Amino acid sequence: MNWNDEITTGEHEIQQALHASGRLPQHIAIIMDGNGRWAQSQSLPRLAGHKQGVETVRDIVKASSQTGIKYLTLYAFSLENWKRPQTEVRGLMKLLEHYLNKEVDELHKNNVRITAIGKLNALPKNVLTLLQAAIERTATNDGLTLCLALSYGARWDIVRATQLLALDVRRGKLSPEDITEESFSSYLTTGSIPDPDLVIRTSGELRISNFLLWEIAYAELYVTQKNFPEFARTDLYEALLSYTQRERRFGLISSQLDTKNNAPQSSYLKRVVDALTNR
Ligand code: IPE
Ligand code: IPE
Ligand code: MG
Repeated sequence: MNWNDEITTGEHEIQQALHASGRLPQHIAIIMDGNGRWAQSQSLPRLAGHKQGVETVRDIVKASSQTGIKYLTLYAFSLENWKRPQTEVRGLMKLLEHYLNKEVDELHKNNVRITAIGKLNALPKNVLTLLQAAIERTATNDGLTLCLALSYGARWDIVRATQLLALDVRRGKLSPEDITEESFSSYLTTGSIPDPDLVIRTSGELRISNFLLWEIAYAELYVTQKNFPEFARTDLYEALLSYTQRERRFGLISSQLDTKNNAPQSSYLKRVVDALTNR
C-alpha cells in the first residue's frame, strides 16, 4: 500500500498548511509512555496497552512520512525497562518481533529507512536478527528515517562513546585537543542522525527518562496528557502546530534571528486550526 495514495483531502490540507509554515521539524523524537495506564483505564492487562501502542506506532509513522518528516525516533524500550517483570519484558519482545515480521515490507515499500539505537546486543537473538535484516534491507531508502530506540539509555550511550573515543586517543588516531562537540557526537549511536528538533512525551510525565540527553540540548518539548495508545495523528499535527509557533532562539535575542523564520503565521495557522477542528 502506497501511503501517499491514502491521504484524505482534509489531511492533505493540514499537511500543506504545516508545510507552508516553512518551520516543520526535521527530526521528531517520541517518548511513547502510558501504555500500562491506558490498559488499566480499560480494565485490560498491561500487555494489551502495549499492543494498542503498536497500532499507534503504525499510524504515527505513516502520518510522519506523509507529512514529509525526515527523522522519527521512537523510544520503545529503555535499558531500565529490562528490570520490569519478566512476563512484561517477554511480551514486549514478542510484540517487537511481531512488528518487525509484519511491518517491514510496507515500510520498505514506502521508502522508510529503519535504524536503531541502544544496546542492541542485549535483545533476544531472533529480534536482533530481524532488526538487522530490516536495517540492511531498507538502508538505501531516502524517505522517512525511522530510528527505533531499543534497550536504549542515554547515559549508557555517552559512556560507550567516551570509551570508544578514549581508545582512539590511546591508538593515536585522535588527540585530546581534537575532541569537540561535533567529534564527540560522532561516537554516539545517534552519530549519523541530526539532533531532534521536537521531543513529544505522552501520558503527562514531565521527565526525560534517560532519553537522548546529549542530543536534546536545544530541542523543543511537547507533553500531552494522552496516553500513547490514544495518541492519534491529529495529536501529532497539534504538536507540530505548537512547534511551528515556537521561537527557537538558541541563546540569542529575537532581533538577531533570521526574519524569514519570524514571518507572520496567521493565515496558514488559521487553515491548520480550521482543518483540525473540521474533522
Ligand atoms: C510505555 O508505556 C511503553 C514502555 C515503556 C515499554 P508504559 O509501559 O511505561 O506505561 P505506563 O507508564 O506504565 O502507563
Ligand atoms: C520511558 O518510559 C521509556 C520508554 C518510553 C521506552 P518509562 O515508563 O520507562 O519511564 P519512567 O519510568 O516513568 O520514567
Ligand atoms: Mg511508563
